[in-house]
Amino acid sequence: MVDFLACPESASPVLNEGHKSDAAVPVQQVNVCRSPLVDKGALTYFSNFRRREVRYNSCKELGSGAFGTVYKCREIDDEAAETVAIKYIRITDAVDGIPQWALREIALLRRCSSRHPNIVSLVDMYCRHVDRRCDIHLVLEYCDMDLKEYIRSVSRNNGVPGLPPGQIKEVLYQMLRGLDFLHILAVAHRDIKPQNVLVKNGIVKIADFGLGKIMFEKAAVSLEVVTLHYRPPEVLLNVNYSLAVDIWSIGCIFGELCDNRVMLGGSCEMEQLKTIFRFLGLPQESDWPGSCAVTRDFFRALDDCSRGFLERYQKHIGDRGLDLLKRMLRFNPGHRVTSYDALKHNYFEGHISPVPYDTEPTVKTEKVVALLSHEMNNIKTQ
Ligand SMILES: Nc1ncnc2c1ncn2[C@@H]1O[C@H](COP(=O)(O)OP(=O)(O)OP(=O)(O)O)[C@@H](O)[C@H]1O
Ligand SMILES: [Mg+2]
Repeated sequence: MVDFLACPESASPVLNEGHKSDAAVPVQQVNVCRSPLVDKGALTYFSNFRRREVRYNSCKELGSGAFGTVYKCREIDDEAAETVAIKYIRITDAVDGIPQWALREIALLRRCSSRHPNIVSLVDMYCRHVDRRCDIHLVLEYCDMDLKEYIRSVSRNNGVPGLPPGQIKEVLYQMLRGLDFLHILAVAHRDIKPQNVLVKNGIVKIADFGLGKIMFEKAAVSLEVVTLHYRPPEVLLNVNYSLAVDIWSIGCIFGELCDNRVMLGGSCEMEQLKTIFRFLGLPQESDWPGSCAVTRDFFRALDDCSRGFLERYQKHIGDRGLDLLKRMLRFNPGHRVTSYDALKHNYFEGHISPVPYDTEPTVKTEKVVALLSHEMNNIKTQ
């Protein structure tokens, strides 16, 4: 049993009514499952938050998905307080503790948020435990819209689908800056898609860490990751994957920024693979993963398919952008460009972002992963 800073019985943050109180938030006892790393991280994080009662009015629902519902909210007792977004996660049976997927989202948000302009910030967090049920409220900085809505609204205003070339470059640059920060921390997001990228006053923020994971060499990884249309071939083929999964997803969004259309849209996993090979070409036998149960031969009917599909984006992003796009969508994840190298690509030559960055991307991510793996091995053997 451990102590959590919890929301009092009478004050669930997503409330329309409530009493004013200056009392400190009582501490409640909550069971936590014994899943080593994430569990340990989350506990430290819980104690860092504001120790006062804050109550919120929910104004409207912003969206909902597999893991929760997000509301636009405002503090009741502080007129001047900023609007926030509250992600409400209900765990109906928390008798054995908070499930690992929920702890993971919290732990990763705490690890990554408020440290980079292109990652959404976690403002606060509440956890309310009643009988078997546990309600978690993640208080996030409020963003104007997600990237899907942003592309749609710019397209509407311009009368042509997609963003103008300058905006395509800026949005891609900011996404890569955010991703580079995650990858430096060895965090794979594993669900990059326009709905999980938010836009606030023109600044792009990666959000929704529900599928995020710290990647170590040889760690067992789940195959149930990445929304289908943004899912890379190595995940579809059930072979080992790494941080490069996120680069594939960003590549798919790069195309979508150009024409407001999903680039590779299959209806199921097999169709998604076929769509990829039909449009991008069937990979060489030498690139086909040896550990894969499905052989390249299975797709040989697609051998003659056109390889000129990506050229359609050239008019939006020029030759340099097209070259970067191709590097992001390489079948072999080992040959796919890293976030670091993408940011150094000549597509961004002379590009000055209006976002004030404190640091330059300086570390090659694969080196960091190797370093972290080494550290992990040391910890395990201690
Ligand atoms: N901080 C925020 N500000 C504004 N809107 C937000 C914010 N966070 C989330 N949203 C909106 O709510 C939607 C759902 O949020 P989120 O992706 O975190 O939930 P989810 O349950 O994990 O969703 P899914 O399973 O579909 O990925 C987002 O796509 C976005 O439109
Ligand atoms: Mg989401």
